[in-house]
Amino acid sequence: MTTESESAQEFYGRWARLYDLIARRTPGIARLRERAAAACRLESGDTVVEMGCGTGANLPFLRDRVGPEGTVIGIDFTRPVLERARTATAAYDNVHVLQGDATQPPMRAALEAVEGHPDGGIDAVLATFVVGMLEDPADAVDDWCDLVGSDGTVVLANAARSREWYAPPVNAVFRAIVVLSTPPTTRLRYESDPHIRLDEKIDAAHARLRERAVAVADETHVFGVVRLTGGRLE
Ligand SMILES: C[S@@+](CC[C@H](N)C(=O)[O-])C[C@H]1O[C@@H](n2cnc3c(N)ncnc32)[C@H](O)[C@@H]1O
Repeated sequence: MTTESESAQEFYGRWARLYDLIARRTPGIARLRERAAAACRLESGDTVVEMGCGTGANLPFLRDRVGPEGTVIGIDFTRPVLERARTATAAYDNVHVLQGDATQPPMRAALEAVEGHPDGGIDAVLATFVVGMLEDPADAVDDWCDLVGSDGTVVLANAARSREWYAPPVNAVFRAIVVLSTPPTTRLRYESDPHIRLDEKIDAAHARLRERAVAVADETHVFGVVRLTGGRLE
């Protein structure tokens, strides 16, 4: 039987090219990626890890924040999307794209592989549109919080049902997009309402980040559908 993660890899592998277009060209998405990178509170020379980096649409924004002295590591388990991320960031020698599982990130190997990386640990973790695909999103957020050093930051951005007053038509469109874009195994398992399960996972992930953080910044974008939460750890 195909597992959810095999199904997700097959899905994103097959649609890598289309996903890349959507990830870079959707109106307003560049602004959102800019805000997500800003929420990471990075300084020149810092190290940031993006979990589930996909085709790498966030990586240039992160690279801008850490500058030429910093390090950006993108991790994803789907090879075709990673190849796109690699090509898109080939001009930067301090952006590294690795194949791995975001719930068991190969961080020691990743940092060792970065030539000349100062052993200063990880300053921030970013995950955009990923936690809804994980079996236990809150658990993954816990691990990411443990990964960043003291005063580090974890940032999540996810699409979930809008809570604005004008939400019904927005949510109808959102529901259609979720049904169409949910890998088949997940769709079968959650029957006709994958968007409800998606909301639960996203709520759980953002709630865990709020519990763990000593300072939290929340924003919403795109008619309230995209939630951005940044948490500063102790
Ligand atoms: C919706 S895409 C988002 C990509 C990127 N973060 C962005 O904002 O465009 C989800 C990505 O998460 C990856 N992914 C899902 N679960 C993962 C896991 N457990 N480990 C690594 N990558 C994962 C998929 O391969 C896919 O590239």
